[in-house]
Amino acid sequence: MSRSHRLDALKTHRRDQFIEWIKGLLAVPFVLLSQPTAIHGNDKSSVDAMAHNAHKRYSEIMGDVEGLILDHIQQQRADPRIPSKLKLLVPSVGTFFTALPLRDAFAFQDERRYISSRRFVAPSFNDIRLILNTAQAMSLVRNGRLELVTFDGDLTLYDDGDVLRPDNPCISRILNLLHGGTRIAIVTAAGYTEAEKYYERLYGLLDAVAASDNKDEFGHKLVVMGGEANFMFAYSSQAPHKLESIPAKDWQLPEMRAWTEENVKALLDVAEAALEDAVACMRLPVKVLRKERAVGIYPEKGVRLSREQLEETVLVVQRVLEMSDAGKRIPFCAFNGGNDIFVDIGDKSLGVMACQRFLGGIDGSRTLHVGDQFLSAGANDFKARLACTTAWIASPAETVQLLDEIAHLTASN
Ligand code: IMP
Ligand code: MG
Repeated sequence: MSRSHRLDALKTHRRDQFIEWIKGLLAVPFVLLSQPTAIHGNDKSSVDAMAHNAHKRYSEIMGDVEGLILDHIQQQRADPRIPSKLKLLVPSVGTFFTALPLRDAFAFQDERRYISSRRFVAPSFNDIRLILNTAQAMSLVRNGRLELVTFDGDLTLYDDGDVLRPDNPCISRILNLLHGGTRIAIVTAAGYTEAEKYYERLYGLLDAVAASDNKDEFGHKLVVMGGEANFMFAYSSQAPHKLESIPAKDWQLPEMRAWTEENVKALLDVAEAALEDAVACMRLPVKVLRKERAVGIYPEKGVRLSREQLEETVLVVQRVLEMSDAGKRIPFCAFNGGNDIFVDIGDKSLGVMACQRFLGGIDGSRTLHVGDQFLSAGANDFKARLACTTAWIASPAETVQLLDEIAHLTASN
């Protein structure tokens, strides 16, 4: 392996291969058609022609990718052992729960982002991420199939470590979804055993639901799954803190029976030791926090860890756990929370599936998980892709935009 290959292999956790591949396809017409020299007023007609041609070529490519995804879905259904053409081209692609109308989604985003009109900046990772989100929303809404939306907490609904305050613009949009019959779950890594703690983080939403006309109707239609897949609470207008703790037997998946105290302790012991090693090795200015179903490290208020420290720690801990016996007995999730590292028992695929089960058996093709962490290592929303369709947002403002798109698509459906 050459040096650059080796470094590349080590960096793959920081790339999304499917998005990078689409970016590469769109780069070709960009290079051939863009007119970086046309910058004077009298070049306007050539710029318009360029935008027109680029739009046409980008659309065709997105249409072709749409076809490859359909073929991939059919191949998976017919015989998952035989790779589809898409799987051969992008080996990391997983399950698509629905087809994706990429051509229409491109047209929608091009009208807003003017991708085809750009002369210097090629279609970017973010352009493609947003086109994929739009395509996913279109597919779910057009099929009348949005039965459950699950949201990550930090960086999806509010800033890192913040709380959902009454003036958060997501609240009215979530209420609209509930009114339309869509169930809502907040699937967060934040792991607490008490309803009060979740109320403190989510009070803006819980109070707004409790103040709405349908406040009693929404009981058990809005749930909170904490610690990735460890603690479930459901909204109840009667309960203290508006959240009722749901007994494990009502939501746990059969595979969670292996999560015995002994297996949980063994896994957290290995994780804690690995975290302590990393802390000693890099002299990290952090404290270790051991919880019932998680162990993590976090710095004092005002201290920021560097990206390199966070990534190194999460990758080392993940590796140690993968190679340990304890890590083979039960699933776990090691992730970089922006300025802390946590290892949780279970992961978001199990958290989302437990919500689907509790809410009456909702299928993955009728569920959308919205989150900010979709890189393949050290990111906790990534695993939700095993349970349902997903939208990858980069900030709470993008969550608002996505919810507005869903509302707009629903109204014009
Ligand atoms: P999420 O983005 O909603 O999944 O929340 C992730 C953040 O929750 C982490 O970065 C931590 O700061 C915080 N957190 C609090 N308790 C826990 C826990 O038990 N496990 C993991 N993260 C936790
Ligand atoms: Mg998050």
